[in-house]
Amino acid sequence: MEFPFDINQIFSERVSILDQTLVAGRRSAERPDLQGHIATVIDELGRASAKAQQLTAPITSASKLQSQRHQLYLLKDGESSGGRGVVVGFLKVGYKKLFLLDRGGVHIEAEPLCVLDFYITENLQRHGYGLELFDFMLQHKNLEPMLMAYDRPSPKFLSFLAKHYSLTQSVPQVNNFVVFEGFFFFNRSVAQLRKVPLKKPDGEIKPYSLMEREVVRQEQRTLPWPFAPPHSPQRLVSSQCSHSLSMRSSPSRAPPQVVPPSCPGCSRNQSPQSPLIDRYRERRSR
Ligand code: COA
Repeated sequence: MEFPFDINQIFSERVSILDQTLVAGRRSAERPDLQGHIATVIDELGRASAKAQQLTAPITSASKLQSQRHQLYLLKDGESSGGRGVVVGFLKVGYKKLFLLDRGGVHIEAEPLCVLDFYITENLQRHGYGLELFDFMLQHKNLEPMLMAYDRPSPKFLSFLAKHYSLTQSVPQVNNFVVFEGFFFFNRSVAQLRKVPLKKPDGEIKPYSLMEREVVRQEQRTLPWPFAPPHSPQRLVSSQCSHSLSMRSSPSRAPPQVVPPSCPGCSRNQSPQSPLIDRYRERRSR
């Protein structure tokens, strides 16, 4: 993606990490005028991503980034466009408070790092840039992809996760977030499930985290929540929350995948240093 200004002047690194401040390195911090260009780049990427995912409006924009505690990893190719550089794509992540169902149908209140938006420009897709960006984020966050949640991943992204990280077995949820086998076990092992306060100071904990896509569509719907009230502890157990119920009441999920009763990553007796995690690390280091 080309712009009428010098990308290399704005983004000095191959991967820039942007947040609420919209600052990409020291240079743009010292030059507020460059921030306008940064906003233009983010807005343009957000629009292109929305188009690629057939969303009615972008879920990523400069103003949204400024108002939310998300992080955006932006990948450039500094050599292209006569040395001015081109923007290759971006990956947006952020923590979300979610109510999830584990494999046994037990409610877990968690605040995992979620992939919220991900886009590589059309002409550069399937060239390994997505993997480069995703791996950069994983190293920066010191995280395994299995420990993350994915906000309504597109078929291309699901294929990407299956190919590069062997993430194929999802655990059915009642919301549009996707988590994979091992999420609950390993999050518990590495304490990535953040402990959340029993009661939020500013009101009740909502049963479903508000998704970017929901905000964009300005759907006012209140999703049903047949379970225990928010003052319950981090882990909620309800006799109502059977596995089958969770799958039936899912508003827009694809049909749940058939998952074998046991798998290498989900044995409860398994140590945190499991072959599954090792396999990911091995694959990534390769
Ligand atoms: N159709 C199916 N799978 C695709 C695909 C496509 N058009 N493009 C990428 N993939 C998946 C495949 O598994 C592919 O492997 P393959 O070529 O052997 O089939 C793998 O990703 C390629 O990996 P990589 O080159 O590192 O990915 P990428 O640079 O293309 O980035 C996406 C992956 C998903 C970010 C990119 O395809 C994209 O921007 N898609 C459009 C927007 C989107 O769907 N974003 C996800 C938001 S939830």
